Amino acid sequence: MSYEHLYKCYDRFVGVDYDDVATLISSVFNSFDISGRVLDIACGTGELTKRLCDKGFEMTGLDISEKMLGIAEGKCNARFIKGDMTEFSLSDSFSAAVCTLDAVNHLESKDAVKSFFRCTYDALKSDGIFIFDINAPYKHKEILSNNTFVFEDEKTYLVWKNEYDGDKRRVNISLDLFTQSNGLYERSSESFYEYDYSIDEIKDMLYQTGFEIINISGGYYMEEIDEYTERYFIIAGKAE
Ligand SMILES: C[S@@+](CC[C@H](N)C(=O)[O-])C[C@H]1O[C@@H](n2cnc3c(N)ncnc32)[C@H](O)[C@@H]1O
Repeated sequence: MSYEHLYKCYDRFVGVDYDDVATLISSVFNSFDISGRVLDIACGTGELTKRLCDKGFEMTGLDISEKMLGIAEGKCNARFIKGDMTEFSLSDSFSAAVCTLDAVNHLESKDAVKSFFRCTYDALKSDGIFIFDINAPYKHKEILSNNTFVFEDEKTYLVWKNEYDGDKRRVNISLDLFTQSNGLYERSSESFYEYDYSIDEIKDMLYQTGFEIINISGGYYMEEIDEYTERYFIIAGKAE
């Protein structure tokens, strides 16, 4: 199970400006007159969930990791549920669903991505919209690649080592976390994969599920897409 240890320092090292992400998503919601219930799928530690709560949406966060949910709970007035994004079914229906920070890349096959899209489709109202992002294959191959990154603060030293496998279309992320405790460092380790999906594969799977694509742009600032795009930001809606 991934995030067994990473949850401890995720919020300190994630390096994403969630205020900007929440502003972008809520501006898309406003342009589609979205209000009421919003589902944050693979919500992690709830940083985005909390900000969307603050903006007045009625939030539900779903994640497979109890440890990540444990950090999320209590941050805001959202309902948090443990669940698998590839096989969930909720009794409520939602005006919108979001899934951020490459959670989709954690899914190990196109069948799993299709199941995720299907569950999301079923959770949405007939005019609901779905916003998510994925890491582009370019980022896995050229940025994460076979590189090692180090993150450090006063409590923690994190070594993040990647191995990219082009044949298997995935990057293996191995983490070594050193956490200070009584003047010593305690070591914990975990690893997981992020999988490549091309934007054409994602589009095909969305269409097959019954979504229409409203917009695809780059990153959290809606940049033009080109061969150097690291993150696709996708807005989809239920087709009539
Ligand atoms: C990179 S974190 C992103 C968290 C959050 N969306 C954010 O923006 O910070 C990926 C999250 O996906 C969750 N995840 C991975 N596979 C999952 C699955 N099959 N079902 C639900 N959550 C999953 C992990 O537990 C983790 O919290």
